[in-house]
Amino acid sequence: MKVRRALLYMPATDWNKINKAITLNVDSICMDMEDGTALNRKAEARDTIIRALQELSFGKSEKLVRINSIGSGFEKEDLESVLPFHPDGIVIPKIESGSQIDWADEMIGKEEQAQGWEKYSIRLLVCIETALGIVNLKEMANHPRLDGLIFGAEDFAASIGATRSRGGWEVMVARSSVVTHAAAFGLQALDMIFVDFRDQVNLKIEASQAAAMGFTGKQIIHPAQVAPVQEAFTPSASAIEYAQRVVDTFLAHQSDGAGAYELDGKMIDMPIVKNAQKVIDRAKAAGKI
Ligand code: COA
Ligand code: MG
Repeated sequence: MKVRRALLYMPATDWNKINKAITLNVDSICMDMEDGTALNRKAEARDTIIRALQELSFGKSEKLVRINSIGSGFEKEDLESVLPFHPDGIVIPKIESGSQIDWADEMIGKEEQAQGWEKYSIRLLVCIETALGIVNLKEMANHPRLDGLIFGAEDFAASIGATRSRGGWEVMVARSSVVTHAAAFGLQALDMIFVDFRDQVNLKIEASQAAAMGFTGKQIIHPAQVAPVQEAFTPSASAIEYAQRVVDTFLAHQSDGAGAYELDGKMIDMPIVKNAQKVIDRAKAAGKI
């Protein structure tokens, strides 16, 4: 699966920002036709995306397109216009049911078949950002086209009538549900946007909190957020070294017949080894080892 530590949005009408995005070495670039695009510019957004997919080289960055929500009246034309240019994936905002995922899957599957592309070569990521989206997570997370669940805090707060706070306690249960469902179905989990894009200190705090919660990446909205966020979701050299020691010493103790043992004053047993293995997997995926 494509590594997505940072997923950068820009309004799909903004040709300059798309051109800027491809120079940033960001894992995923998401051209947004939804809330980043004004209502009277949806057609222009489609045309700009088509031009970008045809003319620009995205390098190692993933090419994603966010369509308008299902039921907005724009979604069908959004999908139909961009699919022939094979984006790497589609992002759907405000997803609320399994049948909405089936609808998108069918549309994408038909285009793959018509063009002779491999089935499931266009991936799907969905934004869980309403109360109903959280309640229906279980029926949505188990779809073979899905790569990830994205948590949208601002829309979620609006949907339940919560007031956002810096600590984010008002969205914590929903945020954590997204991670849990993603993990249960082998998907990636992408954390909420940190909207105060000039504040690097609190961005780093929120990104490391998300990584500690089990998120694999985070949505971002500004070039200054790329490096700190990608770093927060990449295991540090010392974390990798420790994880490797845990795995190595565990194997040695297992063959000596010990399931639990001590390392640096701490008890090590199976769950700690499993977590260490996850650190190693993430480091490998990020090209660190
Ligand atoms: N993607 C790519 N480039 C971006 C960018 C983004 N999301 N946000 C800013 N930039 C570029 C600017 O165009 C500018 O480029 P330049 O130096 O070549 O002129 C540079 O980075 C510095 O930008 P800055 O002046 O600090 O910000 P701004 O005032 O131009 O833009 C926002 C501020 C919030 C409007 C802008 O960051 C943005 O549009 N973010 C994405 C919003 C979005 O897509 N929302 C919907 C999804 S949640
Ligand atoms: Mg939104």
